[in-house]
Amino acid sequence: MPAEEVLKPDQKVYYPDPSYQNSALIRDYDELYREFEKDPDAFWRRIASDLLWFKQWDTVRTWDHPHASWFTNAELNITYNCLERHVNNDRRNKVAIFWAGENGKERILTYYQLYKDVMRMGNALKSLGVRKGDRVCIYLPGIPELVVSMLACARIGAVHTVVFAGYGAKALNERITGAGAKIVITADASVRRGGSIPLKPIVEEALIHAPTVEKVIILRTQEPKVGLLDDFELDYEELISQADRNCEPEHVNSEDPLFILYTSGTTGAPKGIVHTAGGYMVGAYYTTKYVLTLRENDVYWCTADPGWITGHTYGIYGPLLVGGTIFLTEYTPDYPDAGIWWKLIEEYGVTIFYTAPTAIRMFMRMGEEWSEKYDLSSLRLLGSVGEPLNPEAFEWFYKHIGKKNCPILDTWWQTETGMHMITTMVGLPMKPGFAGKPIPGVVATVVNEEGDPVPPGTNGFLAIKEPWPSMMKTVYQNDERYRQYWNFGKYGYYSSNDIAMMDEDGYIMLLGRSDDIIIVAGHNVGTAEIESALVSHSAVAEAAAIGKPDPLKGNIIKAFVILRNGVSPTPKLIHDLKYHVRIMLGPISVPAELDFVDNLPKTRSGKIMRRVLKAQEMGIDPGDVSTLDE
Ligand code: WTA
Repeated sequence: MPAEEVLKPDQKVYYPDPSYQNSALIRDYDELYREFEKDPDAFWRRIASDLLWFKQWDTVRTWDHPHASWFTNAELNITYNCLERHVNNDRRNKVAIFWAGENGKERILTYYQLYKDVMRMGNALKSLGVRKGDRVCIYLPGIPELVVSMLACARIGAVHTVVFAGYGAKALNERITGAGAKIVITADASVRRGGSIPLKPIVEEALIHAPTVEKVIILRTQEPKVGLLDDFELDYEELISQADRNCEPEHVNSEDPLFILYTSGTTGAPKGIVHTAGGYMVGAYYTTKYVLTLRENDVYWCTADPGWITGHTYGIYGPLLVGGTIFLTEYTPDYPDAGIWWKLIEEYGVTIFYTAPTAIRMFMRMGEEWSEKYDLSSLRLLGSVGEPLNPEAFEWFYKHIGKKNCPILDTWWQTETGMHMITTMVGLPMKPGFAGKPIPGVVATVVNEEGDPVPPGTNGFLAIKEPWPSMMKTVYQNDERYRQYWNFGKYGYYSSNDIAMMDEDGYIMLLGRSDDIIIVAGHNVGTAEIESALVSHSAVAEAAAIGKPDPLKGNIIKAFVILRNGVSPTPKLIHDLKYHVRIMLGPISVPAELDFVDNLPKTRSGKIMRRVLKAQEMGIDPGDVSTLDE
């Protein structure tokens, strides 16, 4: 792979406010990393010992490439750590969840109330014959019942597979049958932007060829109440009110599955990523405590839907493990107006706000007059996840939302990794455009195709060398697919399929998926780089780049651009944009073609689906589009 100098001489660095150094929870990065390096097992043992285990492990980690076991032979229950650990201490009456519904609806659950609800739901599931190891599909919007249902499964050792409530019938069916779910928990409808979206018809359609499903539990929120099919569809409220009050936590083995979460593959069917009870718990706890620095007095808002991995780890499990207060809402960012999220931050005194670059760029586009209407001074930390946080979005977020007082965590990780892997931990200097360094506990680097390190400033592949506690156990019923992840280069590293670049200080910049890489005249170019360059032009709101086959160069770059409001696509502008990219990245990265569009195809979690653009461009079949937003 040819070396490409992408280090920019004008790289900005932001230094954190010194007051952060005084916080007991912020540990010096280098010191923590040294502790890990000196003795990884002792490091994870120390973290795991904060949590309660019914039976201690024999070994912290067993590594038989590509399979690892964590906390071997230990027994635990994650809900015992999310609930009893707090209820039996002074956090019994602390708010676990603030939930804000549209039209000013509000619900508050203390740790004690959540504990009671989870036990009842656990018993309700048991009464339907759900046993340890059985799979339960949860298809609910982001409401407290979703949290209760997930924890109830974990309570009795059942394996939840949450399907984002925005998915359609085919995608839902694939996931229900893929996991072989015995029960589906759903609602009659979800609320969105002043209206309601019926869920029950979608579930009915999804169940047409789903032979493993025995019962459907339906939360009925609408009047008049939807009818239920005798002996097959059960009312959520009724079931929970009839259930026994006390439900002892099942003692599960550390290596037992906790959940399956489907993630779409680059090609073919979605993959069921399997996470285990013990390792996942430790990874979620550790990163929530040390990376997000979540503590007693925080009100923490993770905007990801609980149906995604971010919602699992940092919307629910992580914050409950550390005893934090979660803010959850069904409000979308622009309804009833573009100020609603800022209004909620002011009202609830949110201190940590964790969101996605796509949301940040949307807010940028709508203008800072919205955020300026509200008092955001409660915020102390901002986070971003899902795709590269381009420097312009970083700076806007830092200035207009964080008011230059809040560090920004750009966190790189995956459904498969279960927890944060790379970021700039609070206290370290921040470099916009760079996610940061591997966190203590993670051994990651940037390598060439053979697996050997590339020099600083050179594009390569992100590789992880050592196992970590919350790594996926396998791909459900497809261990072969799992093994392919740990098969990179001659050393068999874990490959994330991300293109990356590390600078002299060990900071890693993510440049896009290796499956989206464009080879132009023998040079590798990251789509994210081109997009970031385009977006940094004042006329551009969003951009997506693809490789278009070309007889001379192999590929040329084609970019699709959404202009900011009021800007028109003149020939002069096309020239300016190309020139802008040329100046920033060099001639090989300049798009040969530019198209101006109103929308870009995106997944529901906001990632641009370049594959779809490419298929459109070439007039071919786009493949699996189940994750495409409407
Ligand atoms: C991308 C989401 C750059 C990356 C937690 C990764 C990122 C994939 C970042 C996983 C980031 C996620 N900077 N790229 N901070 N975070 N990605 O499974 O390509 O939905 O491999 O997990 O998203 O997406 P997933």
